[in-house]
Amino acid sequence: MSEHVDKGRRQLLTAATVVTGAVGAAFAAAPFLASWKPSARAKALGAPVEIDISKLEVGAMLKVEWRGKPVWVLRRTPEMVAGLSAIDGLLADPASEASDQPDYATNEARAIRPEFLVVLGVCTHLGCAPLSRFTPGDAELGADWPGGFYCPCHGSKFDLAGRVYKGVPAPTNLAIPPYAFVDDNHILVGQDQSRAA
Ligand code: FES
Repeated sequence: MSEHVDKGRRQLLTAATVVTGAVGAAFAAAPFLASWKPSARAKALGAPVEIDISKLEVGAMLKVEWRGKPVWVLRRTPEMVAGLSAIDGLLADPASEASDQPDYATNEARAIRPEFLVVLGVCTHLGCAPLSRFTPGDAELGADWPGGFYCPCHGSKFDLAGRVYKGVPAPTNLAIPPYAFVDDNHILVGQDQSRAA
């Protein structure tokens, strides 16, 4: 596990000790921000976790914990969303037919609203934490890299919708948890959209 990932986990644990808070830290090239407000009892029971996305900048990602797992919310730029269809041929399951997500996220963007990707930050190979590599042409991943997630454990690659590339060890796309928009500024992770609407 890289030091980068360990830092992220430490910040996550620190944020978990407050009722409502925000953590700003380096997360790749984008600001890292976390804001949530579950009670300790609610968290222990695995209750839904409400996330404040009002300060999440376009192109940035925040990270929270739900049922002991990292959940990432990436606010995609229009360019990120527009580029998803261009790489379908490189992906193992571009239509998410064999992957784990709610019906309302079984679409190209794998999202209720294409701008926001809500995804479990757990590699579907052996459970490592993929790294965000949002910059196209990343030095480590090559000039044709369009941006996405990279798992350093065994080299699995995922696009900006968490869809896995062909020819890597991870068998399926990153999982999408149940979630709902409470309003334009709040996402509830752990409850389906249809139930919150
Ligand atoms: S755990 Fe991610 S590639 Fe193996």
